[in-house]
Amino acid sequence: MNILGIETSCDETAAAVVKATNNVIQVLSNVVSSQIKLHARWGGVVPNLAAREHLKNIFPVLHETLKKSEMKPENINLISITNGPGLIPALLIGTEAAKTLSLFWNKPLLGIHHIEGHIYANFIRDEISANPKSRIPNSERISKSKSQTPKIKFPVLCLVVSGGHTQLVLMKNHLQYRIIGQTLDDAAGEAFDKVARILGLEYPGGPAISVIAETFEIRDSRFEINLPRPMLNRNNFDFSFSGLKTAVLYEVKKNEKMLQDKNFIIAMSQEFQQAVIDVLISKTLKAAREYKPRTILLAGGVSANKELRRQLTEKIEKNLPHIRFQAPEIGYSLDNAAMIAAAGYFRWKKMDSSEKDKAFSNWKHLQADAELRLK
Ligand code: KG4
Ligand code: ZN
Repeated sequence: MNILGIETSCDETAAAVVKATNNVIQVLSNVVSSQIKLHARWGGVVPNLAAREHLKNIFPVLHETLKKSEMKPENINLISITNGPGLIPALLIGTEAAKTLSLFWNKPLLGIHHIEGHIYANFIRDEISANPKSRIPNSERISKSKSQTPKIKFPVLCLVVSGGHTQLVLMKNHLQYRIIGQTLDDAAGEAFDKVARILGLEYPGGPAISVIAETFEIRDSRFEINLPRPMLNRNNFDFSFSGLKTAVLYEVKKNEKMLQDKNFIIAMSQEFQQAVIDVLISKTLKAAREYKPRTILLAGGVSANKELRRQLTEKIEKNLPHIRFQAPEIGYSLDNAAMIAAAGYFRWKKMDSSEKDKAFSNWKHLQADAELRLK
């Protein structure tokens, strides 16, 4: 079946068409219009500005994705839309566009939790993300993507790390979520963004800090920075990152002139990134020992962090070699609509025929919900 996914929960206007057959998700087109430059001057996403941009971009993005997928509206079998959580002005643009298309095209409509989408980004396996410019015709892609699709075995433990969420989610099977731990304050991505701001780096902070930390391997020994590893030894699976951000602020306040020293910024970026990674890995391994999953997944925008991927892979291989680890392809780590379409496919598959019939009238009922819960 062919699924149109739409995502507007934050600062990306995204639409994608995927073809799903026997649990294999093949991406036919994946268009993301990012507003990063617009929000960078404010140091974060401004909800009403985001909504205005979504409004401007939503139909061009939809048009482009349909064109690239070589699909006509009549070939679309399902519309899948992020209906929360996120910024309400932003969510409303996507949900209203999706509801309108559902009504006028007479297609079923499903609302997807944004984090569910991030988790299901792990079920996308094809070469379009590895080489977005590839001109392989859609008809030839499926056999290749099938052979590349590794089977994700349940139970799954998923480390979700994004700008709004940091959670450990246990899944006994598809679409069954149990949150066994989460951040008590800031999300990991939010901490990256706030620390970058303290250091005078650009928004979003995750890519800015990770590039600096990666580029310069050797740390300047003049800067002996030791940040805390919050909640590391607590006997639970929760996280806390706001104290870590404050610790960075205290270090900077000791001597603000250090912000002019590139070597200080490098040392601080490396130490901060490592503090976040240490806590994320330690809690994930602890949860894996207790809940014994067959697969560990990584999800959310922070999963684009190469050092986190590398160290998590290494630690799982060394300490829990019987567990398979997987992260989404980099092209599907950050917000996109292919992941929303993928999650929609797995939801659709689980529905009985009367639920599927009802989905045709979801254009009347679907609501954007800033606080939507994962269930
Ligand atoms: O999932 P996402 O695209 O949007 C939300 O759902 O929040 O995640 C965005 C977050 C931002 O906080 C950004 O700084 C962070 O992911 N991020 C990274 C990296 N790339 C994006 N954090 C660390 N390292 C990265 N390479
Ligand atoms: Zn996200």
